[in-house]
Amino acid sequence: MHHIFKQGNKQKPVFLLLHGTGGDENSLLALAEIIDQEASVLSVRGNVLEHGMPRFFRRIAEGVFDMEDLAARTKELYEFLDEAATNYEFERKNVIAIGYSNGANIAANLLFEFEDALTGVILHHPMVPNRNVIIPTQHSKVFIAAGVNDPICPQHEATDLQTMLANAGADVTLEWESNGHQLTMSEVQKAKAWYEQSFA
Ligand code: MLT
Repeated sequence: MHHIFKQGNKQKPVFLLLHGTGGDENSLLALAEIIDQEASVLSVRGNVLEHGMPRFFRRIAEGVFDMEDLAARTKELYEFLDEAATNYEFERKNVIAIGYSNGANIAANLLFEFEDALTGVILHHPMVPNRNVIIPTQHSKVFIAAGVNDPICPQHEATDLQTMLANAGADVTLEWESNGHQLTMSEVQKAKAWYEQSFA
């Protein structure tokens, strides 16, 4: 997968950055800097193009996912993480994903499909990626930022995701914003505070 790797302090986590629709591997670099400037960064570009806009999996309509493609792309990303850990010599267990919108959805789906994919996840404006799955036991820590007035990800998507992940064993924190689907500095600051408390 097309990506950027930036080596950070080896004692710190590796941030897997997953952009929203139409973004790329540069979109969330500044955000990683804010959360922890010493962390390593693995920033990936989605392999699917929708009218020229990169995404991590195909969709049939807004909010309606191509489930076969989602499963295949999630596996591809999981395998890419294994390869990257070998190539860049980082601890595979040390990966924290930071995803926005479409990137948050594939990050959530990594948890839905694999027990050991991620140690932590910051999800900005996610949806439930799949409602027909038994989620493997989760030991991951999850931060969700959602919008009370998000037209793309309605409130119940965030609360259902919280419940489903918590029922699987994840430690989930949910924070609300009121700026629609926008990724705001205020939710990034909340994510940073959560990260410092959870992983410091
Ligand atoms: C998706 O397709 O993953 C969601 O609708 C969010 C987005 O607009 O990318």
